[in-house]
Amino acid sequence: MATYKIALIKGDGIGPEIIDEAVKVLDAVASTNGFGIKYKEVLMGGIAYDVFGDPLPQETITTAMESDAVLFGAIGGEKWDNLPREKRPESGLLRFRKELGVFANLRPATVFDELINASSLKPEIIKGVDLMVVRELIGGIYFGEPKGRDENKGWNTMVYTRSEVNRIAHVAFKSAMERDKRVCSIDKANVLDVSQLWREEVEEVAKEYPEVQLTHMYVDNAAMQLIRDPKQFDVMLTGNIFGDILSDEASMLSGSIGLLPSASVGNKVGVFEPIHGSAPDIAGQGIANPIATISSASMMLRYALNEIEAADKIDAAIAKALSEGYRTKDISMYDAKEVCSTSEMGSIIANYAAQCKH
Ligand code: IPM
Ligand code: MN
Repeated sequence: MATYKIALIKGDGIGPEIIDEAVKVLDAVASTNGFGIKYKEVLMGGIAYDVFGDPLPQETITTAMESDAVLFGAIGGEKWDNLPREKRPESGLLRFRKELGVFANLRPATVFDELINASSLKPEIIKGVDLMVVRELIGGIYFGEPKGRDENKGWNTMVYTRSEVNRIAHVAFKSAMERDKRVCSIDKANVLDVSQLWREEVEEVAKEYPEVQLTHMYVDNAAMQLIRDPKQFDVMLTGNIFGDILSDEASMLSGSIGLLPSASVGNKVGVFEPIHGSAPDIAGQGIANPIATISSASMMLRYALNEIEAADKIDAAIAKALSEGYRTKDISMYDAKEVCSTSEMGSIIANYAAQCKH
């Protein structure tokens, strides 16, 4: 029996609640599909700062590196907002991504038919939306030098090298080959030199994928087009900060940021996490939506562990829970048959996944 080693990082706020539900669902499909999972919990974020005085202890990096994949909740909260930057939870996460070399962040945005009324957009605009944001994750303005601040000035630098653009572009084109074979590369080439280089290199990579249609779009226009006509997009290829912003925007097509998963991959271990944050305002109330994290666990099975059937079962179970009318609070105003808590939703999905015949 295959047994996988998974590093669990629950983090702050609602992190622990949503990870517990993903573990419940993973255990359910592991037993029906005949594989084992060994979890090792390690700390990151505010909680790691509280315990170790460091948002990213070395043990967390080491454990992650020795695992087959990392399942991650969320980090951050007001409590740590006034710490010096390098002690903040977010700095821990950025360092973690860098250490693991996860340069590609895949953020799918799909709309469940069952939740078509949950979006703030009209049903006909969003029905059938199925897009993938491929976001560069360990470069760009998040990491560029020089950066700093003094009393009257703060500065950051957006840098991309050709090789950084090259490798993320390959991920986007490969993803497009499995999808609708369209890549829209997002930049601000009308203003930024870094975007000019980005565009040039994406054009180069495109030559290796003659079947894929490549278009370019300025980021401001892309933000508008995502709301005007999201179905025009298949794969959106973006740098770090543009992808951060556009993927939050794209999540609202689906009705709630509590629904969307992500996978961060590179050459080593992958990190699987919901795209939402730690939501400290609702932590501990049992009302957080665990679906984004459960869906991230499904991406982990699919992309890191190659347990495709188990991943399919989870995806089917999520769709079934929604079509049966189960809703957590964030989506409860839309066609709810029953409003359920975080852990009820986890149990419902775990049961459906275990019963699922594939
Ligand atoms: C995300 C988050 C992070 C980011 C923060 C918490 C550093 O917003 O994963 O999208 O900006 O990348
Ligand atoms: Mn973000």
